[in-house]
Amino acid sequence: MKPTRIEACCNWVEKRFPMSKLWNDHMAQYYAPKNFNFWYFFGSLALLILVNQFITGILLTMNYKPDAKLAFDSVEYIMRDVDWGWLVRYMHSTGASAFFIVVYLHMFRGLIYGSFKQPRELIWTFGMLIFVCLMAEAFMGYLLPWGQMSYWGAQVIISLFSAIPVIGDDLSLWIRGDYVISDATLNRFFAFHVIAVPLVLIMLVFLHIVALHEVGSNNPDGIEIKESKDPWGHPVDGIPFHPYYTVKDIVGVGVFMFFFATIIFYMPDMGGYFLEHANFIPADPLKTPEHIAPVWYFTPFYAILRAVPDKFAGVIAMGGAIVVLFMLPWLDRSPVKSVRYRGGIFKKALVFFVISFLALGYLGTQPATYGAVIAARIFTAIYFGFFLLMPIYTRWEKTKPVPKSLTHTPSLEERIPAIKATLAEMVVTTEVTTTDGRTTSQIKPNPAGIKAVLIRFAKNLKASLE
Ligand code: HEM
Repeated sequence: MKPTRIEACCNWVEKRFPMSKLWNDHMAQYYAPKNFNFWYFFGSLALLILVNQFITGILLTMNYKPDAKLAFDSVEYIMRDVDWGWLVRYMHSTGASAFFIVVYLHMFRGLIYGSFKQPRELIWTFGMLIFVCLMAEAFMGYLLPWGQMSYWGAQVIISLFSAIPVIGDDLSLWIRGDYVISDATLNRFFAFHVIAVPLVLIMLVFLHIVALHEVGSNNPDGIEIKESKDPWGHPVDGIPFHPYYTVKDIVGVGVFMFFFATIIFYMPDMGGYFLEHANFIPADPLKTPEHIAPVWYFTPFYAILRAVPDKFAGVIAMGGAIVVLFMLPWLDRSPVKSVRYRGGIFKKALVFFVISFLALGYLGTQPATYGAVIAARIFTAIYFGFFLLMPIYTRWEKTKPVPKSLTHTPSLEERIPAIKATLAEMVVTTEVTTTDGRTTSQIKPNPAGIKAVLIRFAKNLKASLE
């Protein structure tokens, strides 16, 4: 049969470009574990926000002016006079905060399911490089509206570099391009924000996904699905990414868009957390705002910086808080990946870590009073303790056995200990003295044990039928 025009067109492309091979290798024939849960929405959502930031960013540059005299007014012009300008600007500014929310949750998923562990160290490392780039991108983007907080926030952060011995002063001068934040700084930050960092980001995201597809996804049980395959060579615990997970991810996108739109339309500045109030006032180099705080996603690291009395040591501690995250794959010595099979020490340490990270985030938004600084020191110690003590407590603690596969049916030999334990539960052994004075043990049925076993059996049966 003669191919249709469309088929002929596809064949033409196919002979010159591996279109269907790429589709099959990375979507239709890419097997992902079948037990993905809520935590697995955030990778695809991060991709969605990345695209949102690119599109809205390009639209904003069409009317934005990277000039210290015009920048603030050009943003006001976008908000008031450009058709749909307010929407594009809020999609971009809310998008920045959404990006960090999603990426923090994405990283937390990696932490709880041990997705950074062997063989996924490089996925994690590329992820961490993405995180550092994202922070640089957000920091430079925040200078562009040229509001009070843009100006003074950048002033505080860049002056941190001057704490570095010997080269510090020259380095901060070199970054600013002037003795204070000025038009020269705005111009170079614009260039980096709009072209240099986004290019690096795209490349890193590409490498992140290539590394992921090479080793395959981890999952909430930390089982390697490639280790048990069916006769056709497909992982027994896997399902094709398309259509199963494309459909799942679309649900996540729908729910995310609902929240995203609600924030954009009803609370775009999020009470001063997403866009700080002082940033609606034009930058004034002669008037320092009363309280300078970075945007919420930097505040945990900012609190660590302020917790240390010496400026240079503070900068080292702040950098160290990010460097330890890079080291995570080599700090964790546990034989299991997922929190589901780890011991109590890791679980408790994780709870302390989460509390300390949130508390540092809160403290970073507050003025540095005596009490706040002391609290920040305690939480900084917990933050570092979680990582630096990890090689000890993860090696020490007892872990639970990890099933070989999600669909693994244990052999009779593997079941013997459980059978023995069930039989022992159904009987009681008592010591009795016979008429001739000897003591022997007598085994009697244990009604309570039998009842418990039967109830368990019935429940399991019901669950398996359902
Ligand atoms: C622009 C930012 C990012 C994008 C677009 C992105 C995208 C993705 C996607 C699409 C996946 C596969 C789907 C999933 O497992 O959820 C993934 C997996 C992963 N990402 Fe990211 N990611 C980003 C940032 C990060 C960061 C900052 C880290 C950590 C430092 C990270 C660590 C990981 C890990 C460890 C996996 C494998 C998870 C597993 O198999 O359980 N990613 N990423």
